[in-house]
Amino acid sequence: MMRHIISIKEFEKEEIDALLDHTRAIDAGNYDRHALEDKILGVLFFEPSTRTRMSFEAAMARLGGKSIDMGGVEVSSVVKGETLADTVRVVSGYADAIVLRHPKEGAARLATEFSSVPVINAGDGAGQHPSQTLIDLYTIRQAMPLDGIDVGLLGDLRYGRTAHSLAYALTNYDVTIHTLAPEGLEMPPNVIENLRERGVEVVEHTDIAEFAHGLDVMYVTRIQRERFPDMASYYAVASSYRVTPELLSGARDSMIVLHPLPRVDEIDPGVDALPHARYFQQARNGIPIRMALLLEVMG
Ligand code: NCD
Repeated sequence: MMRHIISIKEFEKEEIDALLDHTRAIDAGNYDRHALEDKILGVLFFEPSTRTRMSFEAAMARLGGKSIDMGGVEVSSVVKGETLADTVRVVSGYADAIVLRHPKEGAARLATEFSSVPVINAGDGAGQHPSQTLIDLYTIRQAMPLDGIDVGLLGDLRYGRTAHSLAYALTNYDVTIHTLAPEGLEMPPNVIENLRERGVEVVEHTDIAEFAHGLDVMYVTRIQRERFPDMASYYAVASSYRVTPELLSGARDSMIVLHPLPRVDEIDPGVDALPHARYFQQARNGIPIRMALLLEVMG
């Protein structure tokens, strides 16, 4: 059966663990460089991206496959008024799988109705970003077991799809989730309720030093400026939190700091050289994770 990758909620724990194990093998160089030799990946990004787009293409290339890229909204027929449904119908005739990023929540799910090939959700508005979540889990697992840990989510927990995806994925493990967000950007109540229903303790914080203190993982996100209804409400919360070396001096020595990137000003560059900083390693992990996913849908 055709396998779409739309939400991390669709993955059983065993499946996640198997994917992370496969990723580790790929990371160690154990993969067939010709596995996707006759395959083409259709890259449809309706929103900006550096890492996700480039690492999907690099992952495809490492497996011997090719990518074709719509090239962004401005240069595509989207500006002529083509619908997502038609674009997806057409590109699924050119490619063996589609990776889609779109500003509207639910767009990837919708695309599956019109696609004759597997669709991978590379971010749908404030919704989900499953491949990023697998990268996040993999990076945590490189440093510590995924069980018995305190994970803190910091930043825009209202609009940040990576925080939503990761929080759901963590309910498969024995973790406590801690949250800290600027006023108005808290984790939506229905998401928190859903996490609790899935058996995870969620602790909401208001003080950043106290938050940083008890964590094994600090997951930092940027304020999702493009999702704000107007710029005044963005500027009201911009630059309202910052992770600095001073803040981390009160944290556990073994705590790791993650960020899906891009960062704006929420992590001081002084943190980059500290052993806590794992966000560039995390970005690098995009390659083996996406190789594993591409093999999953096309291998
Ligand atoms: C994230 C995204 O697009 O959701 N970027 C990424 O894929 N690494 C995070 C963000 O844009 O803040």
